[in-house]
Amino acid sequence: MQNTPVVSALLNYKTLNRRRFHVPAHAGLPLGNHFQALSQQLGFSSALLDVDLTELDGLDVLSIPEGCIAESQALTAERYGVAHTFYSINGTSGGLHACLLASFQPDDAVLTPRNAHRSIIAGLVLAGLNPVWCEPIWYADWGLWGDVSPATVEQAFKQNPNIKGVIITHPTYEGLATDLETIAKLCKTHNKRLIVDEAHGALFAWHKAFPQSACELPEAISADAIVQSPHKTGGSLTQSAWVHLPKGSAISPQRLQQALNHLQTTSPSYLLLASLDLASAWLASVDFQQALQRQLLRVQRLERQLQAVPSVRLLRKTHLPVLACGRPALDETRFYLRHATLSGETVAEILETERGLSYESCNPYGALYLTSFQHGEADFQAFADGFTWVDEQSVIEEIQHEKAFEPVKQASFMMPEVALSPRNAFFHEDVETVTLAEAQGRISAETIVRCPPGIPVLLPGERIQPSHLSLLGQTGTQAIQVIVG
Ligand SMILES: Cc1ncc(COP(=O)(O)O)c(C=O)c1O
Repeated sequence: MQNTPVVSALLNYKTLNRRRFHVPAHAGLPLGNHFQALSQQLGFSSALLDVDLTELDGLDVLSIPEGCIAESQALTAERYGVAHTFYSINGTSGGLHACLLASFQPDDAVLTPRNAHRSIIAGLVLAGLNPVWCEPIWYADWGLWGDVSPATVEQAFKQNPNIKGVIITHPTYEGLATDLETIAKLCKTHNKRLIVDEAHGALFAWHKAFPQSACELPEAISADAIVQSPHKTGGSLTQSAWVHLPKGSAISPQRLQQALNHLQTTSPSYLLLASLDLASAWLASVDFQQALQRQLLRVQRLERQLQAVPSVRLLRKTHLPVLACGRPALDETRFYLRHATLSGETVAEILETERGLSYESCNPYGALYLTSFQHGEADFQAFADGFTWVDEQSVIEEIQHEKAFEPVKQASFMMPEVALSPRNAFFHEDVETVTLAEAQGRISAETIVRCPPGIPVLLPGERIQPSHLSLLGQTGTQAIQVIVG
């Protein structure tokens, strides 16, 4: 049985049965009258509210952990084979912000792929860093931006010797992995820091069927920080995440703690902390390995079922380059697929409304579905049946002009023309709001993002090109904040 120190401390606190003259004001009870019924319908029961506690005597302090949080973080570090783990209650976003503050000095240059998540842009603003943008690989058959090749990283180091570090997205939202080992070696050889946004990779270290986790890199070529969202794939509550400093990291744990303390609330939710404690223990358990094994078998069967559906094309590791480490280049528990005649958006919406299958994200080309160790036989079968049903529908006429599975031309706006650093654009004193029609050629003062996948269409400090305008239209943007002049 795996230890769960935060959960134990909470259970112990409950037994004390104290009268609560402290925050939170709900005092462990649903709100009165009409609101009581609503709370209960939502499942905000007394049992749940009773443990919605924050830092109290008998519990621990997230910013200076010495008790149950310290113990739980140490256990998670041991389970992942890293030197230190820190809990984040603001997702991977908050963890990445702290890593950038702790790793670099203002005005440092950092190499960042253009398909980085919006949280990286916020981190660049907060830490005052100058991004050197690099182009990820475009997978035309799928209409997706993927990993960054080691050759791109090497070239960037040659052209910009002032680069201090690299921020890698591994894997991408759709599960495409990077050749981490080769990039990590390059970073060590050229003395650059390596921060890995492993938001979608919290399970990778737990099974060889997944791509390699940055936590598994040998100490001699270790990353400096790895941030994961167990809330996405590991079973903890939404918003909870963790930051790992591997053995061999150049970041001091004290510095990272300070950075986290600048960013995180002083009233951390013990619901989130307990869920991290539970997820960490769950991932290290035999029960999880068995559940994962069942999931992987179901994934294989679903793959075969979908491959037999003529109108569906499924992204699998065989479509991607082989990685130096020999591990798969794709998280195959994710199903990204294209339909022969329907856009990703249409197929996802039809399956949602007609078959009750909700999706993770979709784009004009494909749709993304995440399977979980929590899904049973019936869930997997409903998924396969849904796509077979779409295939059988002869009435669907949307987007008939699209040729089946045609490769998608690369989006041309990808490499930004940088006029100002993200921070200087964000803090610029002279900003005005203009319509889309007036925006061409102006410098953006803001980040505009289509979520999911959270990759910015427009960056602060980027000059607005004609190719931005139609994409911005698709995000529903009507007006943009730009720098005056
Ligand atoms: C690649 C990537 N990085 C970072 C994040 C941010 O993670 P979180 O939602 O846990 O803050 C996301 C969220 O979707 C993401 O897709």
